[in-house]
Amino acid sequence: MAGKDVLLSVDGIKATYNGAITALHGVSFTLHRGEILALLGANGAGKTTTLKAISNLLPAERGEITAGSILYEGRDVTTATPAQLVRAGLVQVLEGRHCFRNLTIEENLVSGGLGRSGSRAEIAFDLEKIYALFPRLKEKRRALAGLTSGGEQQMTAIGRALMSRPALLVLDEPSMGLAPIVVQDIFKTLRRLNVETGLSILLAEQNSAIALRYADRAIVLESGVGVLSGEATELRQRDDVKAFYLGQKPAPAPAFTPTSLPAA
Ligand SMILES: Nc1ncnc2c1ncn2[C@@H]1O[C@H](COP(=O)(O)OP(=O)(O)OP(=O)(O)O)[C@@H](O)[C@H]1O
Ligand SMILES: [Mg+2]
Repeated sequence: MAGKDVLLSVDGIKATYNGAITALHGVSFTLHRGEILALLGANGAGKTTTLKAISNLLPAERGEITAGSILYEGRDVTTATPAQLVRAGLVQVLEGRHCFRNLTIEENLVSGGLGRSGSRAEIAFDLEKIYALFPRLKEKRRALAGLTSGGEQQMTAIGRALMSRPALLVLDEPSMGLAPIVVQDIFKTLRRLNVETGLSILLAEQNSAIALRYADRAIVLESGVGVLSGEATELRQRDDVKAFYLGQKPAPAPAFTPTSLPAA
């Protein structure tokens, strides 16, 4: 179980794009060291905006935080560049599994270690650890990333992030567009990393079923507002979570029409 040590604290943030569109209306949550926290919500709920705010990536999208604060290890993230945050261990895998398509899988992974300016031996050591976690990547290490499957590209994007030795790994919709078995495989690996190395993970997901199975806690966003939060095991059992907040309406009850009544 996670300790009490707060790694990330998001407190009442509001965010806008182009000084006009308000995407977040006050989002608050805390992530403790060693924990997996899921950020759930339907399309447009504000998950990506929240994650970009945490990595100080909003200015690059003509977005800004207009109220509230985000502290990573007690430091205001808006005072650091995204690259400085990566060096401080706050590493994000953006939505859509970005890889360098014309580089091999191994080159993609190595590129993740460059920012840290680790020695050759360190990079080789880290590579082997990634290959132990994702054996598929070892098999495909000479393949061009652009020619590999969606799952392999997502693993490559995660592996590249791990090469910078994160303390907090932030993932935006790791399950998107992948077959259920591949999604399972990726989440199992994330859980294993969390258990074995204490890596803290914040992940945004529309796939609440898988996220609630592997996360410790979750927060649900709706239209830029945090509407619910709690232990994943508890949220998993609540049908209203899926029905009202995540756009997964339960099957409708059969329509009641007089003609469907048995004849008197
Ligand atoms: N670059 C942008 N410029 C203007 N508005 C944006 C931009 N990115 C997002 N928005 C708006 O901000 C709101 C929140 O979007 P966001 O991408 O954070 O949601 P999300 O929960 O990640 O959705 P999805 O599940 O579809 O990825 C939406 O209304 C969206 O249209
Ligand atoms: Mg998103």
